[in-house]
Amino acid sequence: MQDVQLTLHRAAKRYRSSDAPLADHLTTLLQESPTFASPLRKQAEVPLPVDVDSRLHLLRVETDPAIDHEPVFAPDLAVALTQLVAERRKAALLNRAGLQPTRSALFIGPPGVGKTMAARWLARELKRPLLILDLAAVMSSLLGRTGGNLRHVLDYAKGINCVLLLDELDAIAKRRDDQGEIGELKRLVTVLIQQLDDWPSSGILLGATNHPALLDPAIWRRFEAHMDFPLPDRAAIAQFVADTLAPVFPEATAWTAPLAVAFAGKSFSDIERELIAARRYAAINDAPLNDRLAILAGNQATGKAGRIAVATALVDHGLVSQRKARALTGVARDTIRNRTAPKRKPPRRTKQDTP
Ligand SMILES: Nc1ncnc2c1ncn2[C@@H]1O[C@H](COP(=O)(O)OP(=O)(O)OP(=O)(O)O)[C@@H](O)[C@H]1O
Ligand SMILES: [Mg+2]
Repeated sequence: MQDVQLTLHRAAKRYRSSDAPLADHLTTLLQESPTFASPLRKQAEVPLPVDVDSRLHLLRVETDPAIDHEPVFAPDLAVALTQLVAERRKAALLNRAGLQPTRSALFIGPPGVGKTMAARWLARELKRPLLILDLAAVMSSLLGRTGGNLRHVLDYAKGINCVLLLDELDAIAKRRDDQGEIGELKRLVTVLIQQLDDWPSSGILLGATNHPALLDPAIWRRFEAHMDFPLPDRAAIAQFVADTLAPVFPEATAWTAPLAVAFAGKSFSDIERELIAARRYAAINDAPLNDRLAILAGNQATGKAGRIAVATALVDHGLVSQRKARALTGVARDTIRNRTAPKRKPPRRTKQDTP
């Protein structure tokens, strides 16, 4: 396989000046061929790497990565991720400019904001299998074996055209100057650095971390792209709530803005969990989901300003009365009355109106 790729690569180079379209075609073939050659079959041929101690599979393999709802990415992040996909799809253009596609990217952000989901999304867009190595889980009880395990997994991943996600990278990539760490961990970092250097441009290597400050600067530097996954802002939460509720709840639209206020500062996965819990309760107790969401919004509100904002949003969107909003959030009715948009009075009839 590698011989064929090498020959194609040389031919593409040779024809670059005399027959650019042919060279482009060859380059595209080179980028795509392992996908066509069915990564599924290749995986069946190459046994999955296994930890020698636990005999557990080190890798989680998703041959056909699927997402049950579309991710909501912050605008900058969406641009960066779309660029990664476009680089692979337009490999010929990059090649013509003498460039390689981005090989590696580091995903940085708190838990539950879509780092793993983005890796799955990338793999799905590129029609590649997703391989996930959870480093925190894999750190062998015998630390000495982890270096070998890591090398083993990366060698395996290099052989198939995949997206490889090194999850919880900070578990391994502790700073080498950390006094508390033993030498073995330092050697592990060295293994990781070598592997990052050797990673082929045909593959996509992703790292995810909640604690960027713990990462060794040498590892940080080796990732070609760094992408921040922020907690969702109000617009992102509203979008997420709409995506989640609209397919199952006809009145979803009225709830997006008030819930976006109530869930301020929460991660997507926290929000998802709360919405599912509310739906479960409503289903089991044959109760209106509206009531459950109102309680949820009231419970989420924290701090005086937060409670007032939630009470106001609930009343403004016509979801509950001022009295109910007071009961849910503890905010005085006078305060709610002063903050909510005044109800428009119906136009007074004048003499001309009456026939
Ligand atoms: N940006 C997002 N858009 C839509 N849903 C999301 C998003 N982020 C997270 N979710 C939901 O939350 C779940 C958990 O997210 P994910 O596993 O991607 O978080 P993570 O950032 O990898 O967290 P951790 O650091 O704990 O691994 C997802 O399966 C998805 O349902
Ligand atoms: Mg994750």
